[in-house]
Amino acid sequence: MRFIALAVSALTISCAVEAATTPAGTSYTPGLGEIMSATQMRHAKIWFAGKAGNWELAHYELDEIREGLDDAVTFHPVFKNVPVSAMLDQFTAQPLADLDAAVAAKDRTGFRKAYDSLTGACNACHQAAGHGFIVIKRPGAAPFSNQAFTPKTR
Ligand code: HEC
Repeated sequence: MRFIALAVSALTISCAVEAATTPAGTSYTPGLGEIMSATQMRHAKIWFAGKAGNWELAHYELDEIREGLDDAVTFHPVFKNVPVSAMLDQFTAQPLADLDAAVAAKDRTGFRKAYDSLTGACNACHQAAGHGFIVIKRPGAAPFSNQAFTPKTR
């Protein structure tokens, strides 16, 4: 009887440990490649939003990029021996802050500059993470023909 009680409490503890290491309320863990693919989409969308002076959409996409990168930190703090968590902060904190400022100021020139430095940060991190063959650039044509990027006239 005593043994069973011990076994049950050991099980309870191991479940608690499990719960602590699995983000609350999640059963699906997105892979880093999936998070990055979503980031790629937003990286393209924010470009077209900024280019069109759609600052509301640009702000939204910037938040989405941040959320995606936060997910990378939550789910993959270390990925194949690459310290993703520390590197994301090191490479992207400044460019994201600059992009934030440019979007808030509705500054097109500042936006382009900050966008290019964010793109540079994506590539510098890929290089440092042994994925230098993944090269991000300014998008050429809008990849989504079913979404308008010009601001909505109210
Ligand atoms: C931690 C540094 C780091 C930063 C910063 C980073 N990435 Fe990545 N990225 C990676 C790693 C590591 C992989 C490889 C993931 C894998 O092997 O599944 C990757 C993969 C990718 C891929 C390939 C996904 C696929 O499956 O085809 C794309 C696209 C990508 N990143 C886009 C971006 C963009 C856009 C940015 C900037 C907004 C960015 N990344 C910033 C580390 C980074």
